[in-house]
Amino acid sequence: MLDNTEALDQAARETAATFQARELTAHPTTLELLFTEARTHYGWQDRDVSEDTLKALYEIAKMGPTSMNQQPMRVIFIRSDEAKDRLEPCLFEANRPKMRTAPVTAILAYDLNFWEELPTLFPPNKNAQEIFKNNATAAQVNAFRNGTLQGAYFMLAARAVGLDVGAMSGFDNKKVDEEFFHGTSLKSNFLVNLGYADTSKIFRRLPRLSFDQVCETL
Ligand SMILES: Cc1cc2nc3c(=O)[nH]c(=O)nc-3n(C[C@H](O)[C@H](O)[C@H](O)COP(=O)(O)O)c2cc1C
Repeated sequence: MLDNTEALDQAARETAATFQARELTAHPTTLELLFTEARTHYGWQDRDVSEDTLKALYEIAKMGPTSMNQQPMRVIFIRSDEAKDRLEPCLFEANRPKMRTAPVTAILAYDLNFWEELPTLFPPNKNAQEIFKNNATAAQVNAFRNGTLQGAYFMLAARAVGLDVGAMSGFDNKKVDEEFFHGTSLKSNFLVNLGYADTSKIFRRLPRLSFDQVCETL
């Protein structure tokens, strides 16, 4: 007789095997949407983004893998004029109109106390909390690594639900933390403008490093 955990593991293996047998690869259009034709955007149409679209974005982004299933990313969606007024002074001058004209700007943060959720998120390791509880360096490294990974999933998920995206790290993290995360364990990582782009504001595509410049096979 299998206990419940073993039964769940077995069911997951069957699901994964069935999925693998489908031998899926991405349709070329999907690759255009997510990577090869998608651009970083700086100007925005006067067209709203619904809460349902933001929820659909998160439901996709949350499935990206993080170490020990830590999921340290936290998000504030800045939409109202009041919230934009608070964010604006934290940004480098050149980034202010990009945020101001975007219907939504996501502040992507990471929670240094992400480990409090590990009993639920990573039950296989009963001592997972202990790894981070009294080790601020390990907590910081893991929160930043996995929060940043989740930020990348977030941008691709946004594209997947039909949004245009423009990330920004040109701002004062300390100011954002003071304004939005004072007295909490959250730290700002980067910002993502979301909406439907005004394509007249983009620049030429810049070069990418080649496989040979970047990759080595040993
Ligand atoms: C994490 C991150 C931070 C960025 N910060 C800024 C920024 O502060 N201001 C800005 O104008 N562009 C910013 N960018 C945009 C990049 O310069 C742009 O994504 C890159 O040149 C590739 O452009 P492409 O996607 O159109 O090819 C940022 C992009 C990322 C991913």
